[in-house]
Amino acid sequence: MMKISITRWKKSALLLAGVTFAATFLITSVPARTGTNDDSAALYKAKCFACHGATAEKKFDATKADDELIQTVLKGKKAEKPPSMPGYEEKGITADQAKALVALMKSLKH
Ligand code: HEC
Repeated sequence: MMKISITRWKKSALLLAGVTFAATFLITSVPARTGTNDDSAALYKAKCFACHGATAEKKFDATKADDELIQTVLKGKKAEKPPSMPGYEEKGITADQAKALVALMKSLKH
C-alpha cells in the first residue's frame, strides 16, 4: 500500500517537472514572437502605411473576418477608383506574414 503511494508521488513529481519544462519552453519562445511583430511593424511602415495610414484608419474595416482580410492582402482587391489594393503574395509576402499584418492593423485601429 505504502509502496504504491510513493510510486504515485514519483509519477506526479515527474509530471510536474515535465509541465515546468514545457512552461519554460513556452516562455522562452515568446521573444521570438515579439520579433515577428516588430517585423510586421517594419513591413507595414514600408509597404502599407502610405495607403492605410499610421493607425490603419484608411480603407480598412477591422470588423471583417481575419481570413477575408488576409486573402485581400495576398490576392489584392480592385478599388472602384485607383489606387487599388496590390496583391502581395506575388511580391513575396507569405500567408503567415499576411496574418501578422492583419493582426497588426486590427491592433493599430483599436
Ligand atoms: C497603393 C495603395 C495600397 C497599398 C500600398 C496597400 N493597400 Fe491595402 N488596400 C488599398 C485599397 C484601395 C483597399 C480597398 C480596396 C477596396 O475594397 O476597394 C485596400 C484594402 C486592404 C485590406 C482589406 C480591407 C477591407 O476592409 O476589406 C487589407 C487587409 C489591406 N488592404 C492590407 C494591406 C497591407 C497589409 C498592405 C501592405 C503589405 C497594404 N494593404 C498596402 C490600398 C493599398
